[in-house]
Amino acid sequence: MRIYDFIRGKKEGETNHPEDIKRFVRGYVEGKVADYQMSAWLMAVCFNGLGDEELAAYTEALIDSGERFDLSGIRCIKIDKHSTGGVGDKVSVALAPLVAACGVTVPMVSGRGLGHTGGTLDKLASIPGFRTDLSTEEFKQNLANAGVAMMGQSVRMCPADGAIYCLRDVTCTVESIPLIAASISAKKIAEDAQGLVLDVKVGDGAFMKNERDAEGLARKIISVTKRFDLRTKAVLSDMSQPLGKAVGNALEVEEAVLCLKGEGPPDLRELVLTLAARMLSLAGRKQGDARKETEDALDSGKGLNKFIEMVRLQGGNPAVVEDYKLLPRAEFKIPVTAEKEGVFQKIDTYKIGMLAVELGAGRRRKEDSIDPAVGFKINKKIGDEVEKGEPLAYVYANDETLGQRIARELKGCFETGDEAVLPPPLIIKKISP
Ligand code: URA
Repeated sequence: MRIYDFIRGKKEGETNHPEDIKRFVRGYVEGKVADYQMSAWLMAVCFNGLGDEELAAYTEALIDSGERFDLSGIRCIKIDKHSTGGVGDKVSVALAPLVAACGVTVPMVSGRGLGHTGGTLDKLASIPGFRTDLSTEEFKQNLANAGVAMMGQSVRMCPADGAIYCLRDVTCTVESIPLIAASISAKKIAEDAQGLVLDVKVGDGAFMKNERDAEGLARKIISVTKRFDLRTKAVLSDMSQPLGKAVGNALEVEEAVLCLKGEGPPDLRELVLTLAARMLSLAGRKQGDARKETEDALDSGKGLNKFIEMVRLQGGNPAVVEDYKLLPRAEFKIPVTAEKEGVFQKIDTYKIGMLAVELGAGRRRKEDSIDPAVGFKINKKIGDEVEKGEPLAYVYANDETLGQRIARELKGCFETGDEAVLPPPLIIKKISP
């Protein structure tokens, strides 16, 4: 295969041979294909897409570049969940222990924040002592003991995806449905789960801005994972406003714990229960029974107890559940007040995510460190009434000057008007194979 011809083929809308795709990815990992050649092919894929056979071959190449977990020694059914990322999305922190409390094993390999979206790994890392760098053996041991373990992707899992992802990040080739589908699917297949529930976020605060693209991504992932015996169901959920109130790592952990205590915001509870029920239905429960079982596990405190067990097993301090002051706390709490009365019309969720990054809750560059304490609490949802002078949000900052500036910019993210507005539906669509 001549690399030049391979790239030209994709550029001109031809189909690449599956074996050539595998050779190309292998060549990239081995240093025989240059960054500029991979970048050119990725850009051609952005314009011309990948057919089903091409997508399967590319996914397989990403998987084969590294190690695969073998969880066959764990006899319980293993179901994972993946979110495409949003603002204030702390679902996994509550969901994984909740589902484990219902007797389903949850092997969760999570990522760090990406762009304007937060990452589960960063949220968990805000719990004092909590280790996300488990070895494969520790991961398996914790799954066997507690039925749940949450860790970061090891460099040995899908290394081709890691390298290509960095390239996509700087060559404007992230936003491609087949490339995203392969990247997510490869990691989940390598993790050796038997079922996957996908939460595809839709809206201004998500990577998929409209329902058509979100559904396209969900269907691609469902079809490619099926080829590798991973059963996937998807939920499209709203990201036109932050989920819950908290945005920022320790603040989000606190909110996830509140959810497990039955005290969290209603939208977070609803999404956690919806996804949990889908995970249980993949594990074989009937749909109605699955919902009831997850509600019971939440309301009885079984989910919270499982969270405590998981935190303890991963070296964290479980007392954070009772005393939130043990989590990192910001020095300054700055209110953002309403200028006039009216109805909350619209929220610039993407900008809120970017402001959180600027405040220190996320990274601008891969090597940046984050401040786990900082973030926002957004008190209002679209459709809520607002009184003049009422606090719409709070900024939690460790640098007062920065916090004040961010507070002024945050005010500009909220649009208040006179017209009544219906809140957007949280669950947009459920998609099954
Ligand atoms: N998340 C991933 O893991 N990969 C992508 O390509 C995009 C989001």
